[in-house]
Amino acid sequence: MDKQLTGRTIFITGSGGVLGSTYVRRMLAAGAQVIASDLPGQRAEALRSAHHGNPAFHFEEMDVSDEAQVEGIFEKLLARDLRPNVVLNNAAITGELLMGAGKPFPDFANTSVTDWERTLRTNLTGAFMVARQMDRDIVGKWPCTLINVASMYALNAPHHDIYDGMPFKNFSAYGVTKAGIHGLTLWLASYWRKRQATVNTIAPGAVFNGHSELFQERVSSLIMQGRMAQPDEIADTMLFLCSPQAGYMTGSLINVDGGFAGW
Ligand SMILES: NC(=O)c1ccc[n+]([C@@H]2O[C@H](COP(=O)([O-])OP(=O)(O)OC[C@H]3O[C@@H](n4cnc5c(N)ncnc54)[C@H](O)[C@@H]3O)[C@@H](O)[C@H]2O)c1
Repeated sequence: MDKQLTGRTIFITGSGGVLGSTYVRRMLAAGAQVIASDLPGQRAEALRSAHHGNPAFHFEEMDVSDEAQVEGIFEKLLARDLRPNVVLNNAAITGELLMGAGKPFPDFANTSVTDWERTLRTNLTGAFMVARQMDRDIVGKWPCTLINVASMYALNAPHHDIYDGMPFKNFSAYGVTKAGIHGLTLWLASYWRKRQATVNTIAPGAVFNGHSELFQERVSSLIMQGRMAQPDEIADTMLFLCSPQAGYMTGSLINVDGGFAGW
């Protein structure tokens, strides 16, 4: 019997993180061929060893901010007989990744142009370059879908107070790129409408990843369901967007945030 993602070949950027690695595990279990990608390093290695020997799992190192690497990616996959019909712009630089664990976090007045531009380059320009490469190599050749990953902080302001005393803060460029990525979704949904290509945005809420009790309490008080999400709860909607059941959706943004955006 067919599984939810039988026949789907999914290429996903930044797949070694807390959500990316969950998507990969769930997609494989749902019958997809998965081409995971990430920067070289520990996360990539962990993902590779977790799925070593699974013939439906493939891995390609790719830095989404490197134009030459993005330009070559689908050609490389085609040479391996892999034809993605689902692409996920999932890679992102968060404040924590940008600063490095444990480093002091600058306030807005001290935010450098270098950090601002690095965030835009990865989160927005990277997503643009992946989509542009889809346009060149895939769109119009076979039916496909692109899923852009935004955040609860794309179209909603952060409550800065919940970060008081925390080792991390909400970083201005992060929210700006996450709002921008839905602009890319809308633009492309219209642009690709006659070429059997759909584009949607998922906006995950606050995902639990070992946060302190105090942070959990503060953020949970802003969420209708009163708690942070488990990665698998975001994956449930991501798998739906990757599946044929989402075929009549394009240009949409789905919040998966326990009600954060509704208040
Ligand atoms: N975790 C959350 O609470 C949350 C909430 C809302 C949205 N999101 C979004 O979901 C997506 C995945 O988040 P996550 O929680 O798994 O984050 P994460 O930080 O755990 O993982 C992000 C991954 O992106 C990779 N990456 C960073 N720069 C890259 C580059 N230049 N090229 C390729 N890969 C690169 C990192 O190596 C990492 O593996 C991101 O777009 C994030 O903004 C996450």
